[in-house]
Amino acid sequence: MRTNQPQTIYLSEYRVPAYLVDTVDLRFELFEDGTRVHSTLAVRRNPESDAGAAPLELDGDSLVLESVALDGKALSEGEYEDRGDKLIVESVPEQFELSVVTWIEPQNNTRLEGLYKSSGMFCTQCEAEGFRCITFFPDRPDVMSRFRTRVEADKSAYPVLLSNGNDVERGDLGEGRHFVTWEDPFPKPCYLFALVAGDLVEKRDTFTTCSGRDIDLRMYVEPRNAEKCDHAMDSLKRSMRWDEETYGREYDLEIFMIVAVDDFNMGAMENKGLNIFNSSCVLASQETATDVAFQRIEAIVAHEYFHNWSGNRVTCRDWFQLSLKEGFTVFRDSQFSADVGSPTVKRIEDVNVLRTAQFAEDGGPMAHPVRPASYMEISNFYTLTIYEKGAEVVRMIHTLLGPDMFRKGSDLYFQRHDGQAVTTDDFVRAMEDASGRDLSQFRLWYEQAGTPVLDVSDEFDSGQGIYRLTIRQSIPDTPGQTGKKPQHIPFALGLLGSRGESLPLRLESDSQDAPTERVLELTGETHVFEFHGLNECPVPSLLRQFSAPVRVRYPWTREQMLFLMSHDPDGFNRWDAGQRLAVDVIQSLIGAPKDSSIDARLVAAYRHLISDSSLDQALVANMLQLPSAAYLIELAESADAPAIHEARERVLKHLAIALRDDLVACYRRNLEEGDYAVTPEQIARRSLRNTALAWLLQINDEEGRELAQRQFRNSDNMTDRLGALRALVNSDYEEDRERVLEEFYERFQEDPQVVEQWFSVQAASDRAGQLPQIRALLEHRAFDWKNPNKIRSVVGAFAGQNLAAFHRPDGSGYNFLADQVCRLDDSNPQIAARLVTPLTRWKKFAPAHSELMKSALERIRDKSGLSRDVYEVVHKSLA
Ligand code: ARG
Ligand code: ZN
Repeated sequence: MRTNQPQTIYLSEYRVPAYLVDTVDLRFELFEDGTRVHSTLAVRRNPESDAGAAPLELDGDSLVLESVALDGKALSEGEYEDRGDKLIVESVPEQFELSVVTWIEPQNNTRLEGLYKSSGMFCTQCEAEGFRCITFFPDRPDVMSRFRTRVEADKSAYPVLLSNGNDVERGDLGEGRHFVTWEDPFPKPCYLFALVAGDLVEKRDTFTTCSGRDIDLRMYVEPRNAEKCDHAMDSLKRSMRWDEETYGREYDLEIFMIVAVDDFNMGAMENKGLNIFNSSCVLASQETATDVAFQRIEAIVAHEYFHNWSGNRVTCRDWFQLSLKEGFTVFRDSQFSADVGSPTVKRIEDVNVLRTAQFAEDGGPMAHPVRPASYMEISNFYTLTIYEKGAEVVRMIHTLLGPDMFRKGSDLYFQRHDGQAVTTDDFVRAMEDASGRDLSQFRLWYEQAGTPVLDVSDEFDSGQGIYRLTIRQSIPDTPGQTGKKPQHIPFALGLLGSRGESLPLRLESDSQDAPTERVLELTGETHVFEFHGLNECPVPSLLRQFSAPVRVRYPWTREQMLFLMSHDPDGFNRWDAGQRLAVDVIQSLIGAPKDSSIDARLVAAYRHLISDSSLDQALVANMLQLPSAAYLIELAESADAPAIHEARERVLKHLAIALRDDLVACYRRNLEEGDYAVTPEQIARRSLRNTALAWLLQINDEEGRELAQRQFRNSDNMTDRLGALRALVNSDYEEDRERVLEEFYERFQEDPQVVEQWFSVQAASDRAGQLPQIRALLEHRAFDWKNPNKIRSVVGAFAGQNLAAFHRPDGSGYNFLADQVCRLDDSNPQIAARLVTPLTRWKKFAPAHSELMKSALERIRDKSGLSRDVYEVVHKSLA
């Protein structure tokens, strides 16, 4: 907690560490009233540093220092300085052993950084800078050490004692206590350290690697969760095989462990050999987890496993390079999800997140490059830009190089930098060296923030049969960055003839055989491309597969949108054309008179989607989703959130009324037979019938109501049960709403992951999630201010998804959020800073709203003792 202004850290001030730590020997004495940490470091001067005989400086946070010894000799108080955030030893030899004993209180750690307790177990979260909450240490990723960890605790309360690597020794200590010693042979930065102690059940499996080694796979969960491990274990084995086959990466330790904990700030953490997961990102059963959760779990298990190479074996030099591991690993996990599921659907999901949330971030006050140049609090930079835009940047390299050269590049990267802490530049250089391609201009993707805009125009010269496409790129200013240079953009496109056929893209230089799809490379501000040999003006299919994270502006007519929606051979662009059409229709209704007409062609297009069962049903299920209010806000110049919400609702109801019989037929056609399985085919069926239900309930359809009630009672899986619950909660049937919410809670109250879903269905609903109801949820006995998932499922869902209630014209939603942020700032600043996000977008909104949002931000700013996390977000937003 602070009163003065936090410092800004700059990439340009990076210096190699003055001292290196070769080995770390840790001993944890875990007690109920605190933990004593004994640490012995083998330290030596860094030969690459020019700091010479500089004082030794170790980072610390909230530690009680008990003793310091150098080469076995206790130091007296004059020989070191304990400044709280630093332990400084003025004069040290070139090489020495430093022993430090600290006392910490995990049981009182509400920030969930460092060592803390979660439902009775001890666990850690060290990334980015949590290790300094455990002991004094050079807490920076370019200091890599071999760790040996001995954990001591009461044997009956904590029978399971875990840390990184292999367990090498265990035994009893008397007085009911025992110990286990772990040794990790791979040097690692301290952010990958982990410790777990608890009364956990163990689930075991084995994986045989490509070279024939048997790996011991273990999951550790609380006994009540023993039956929710299978899906994660299967996902793990699939990930291990996939990384061998796709990237040639084999697992390197003898054991791989996964632990589930209920209180966790983020999704999961890739600690070496000991991944720790938020329970909601790993535990699943058919009865308690939705299809979305199953897929999310598979992706996160894969993500954390893939970090073993992209992150752990090759790590980051400093936190400005965070996207080195996160962007690459998100790219890897999305390739994996595409391979094991539906590639088109995966792309649609990724682009939806990117365009809705990352574009908003990139156009807002917290905009930053994929490789930031400065930060105050690194926790604030675990962002959509670092993760998702970072993944898009890697994806563009993949597109530019092609799969084979990309694989050569990744092989070279892993081989060249194994055991090192490196930069995004090193990554790009490996790609260049392996492929012979020059990516110097491409590097601007890492340096320049902001979403590039492509203005596309075209003309057809019928006399010469030439179609001329002009593409102009510009990149908007972002905080601290103006006058940007053009970037290197891969732009995939195709051209369609009037019967929907793919036309050859014949550039002047081409012979007769021209491809029907090309990836154009944009490098200048303006490009003109001429396609020859055409008999008619084609319809362009632009930016296929969303080949670059950019906004395309082109004057599409509704005819063209409808045409692409049914003819584009690129499934992603078919979906995109449908979205664009829906956006166009909704936008035309914003603020329009209540009786203004709605384009009949939209209804016809949706009817075709719903009723033609020969179409790819997974794609259809996604095409039926109207663009979200959040996306419509992102697209708006000066957003009137309530009017946007209203226009969207109007279109939805209009479609539902017009397609009422088709929806009922669609529901019945997609009633499941056979055993539940999380396959693209079944997911599509469930999605279709739940969309049908949701729409029918929007128009108070009695048959829909009956179907929903029956589904709510009889379904054998959470996707359907929750789908029915959500449809009823969002309907006008008030009594049904109350009853199903109650029944649902009765049935699942013992399951925290389901209760979180129950909270968020209400908090995100404009019927069940008005402010008084939200306040009641905060008082509910299942709510817990110490549990980030509960906070996210009520406060986060309200502010992020319940736009009608959050943007109430009286500003009560904004003030409510400000109150919760202030309240949380003292206990968990990371979560508090995340919750501020919706308010940071204040400039996007129409004046009446933006003024109120701004004053809510100012109220947070004026709270005394603001954390560095919230300080940074609020001050940058108000700047
Ligand atoms: N490295 C983790 C992952 O992406 C995320 C850890 C984030 N931790 C944090 N304190 N922000 O898999
Ligand atoms: Zn990650």
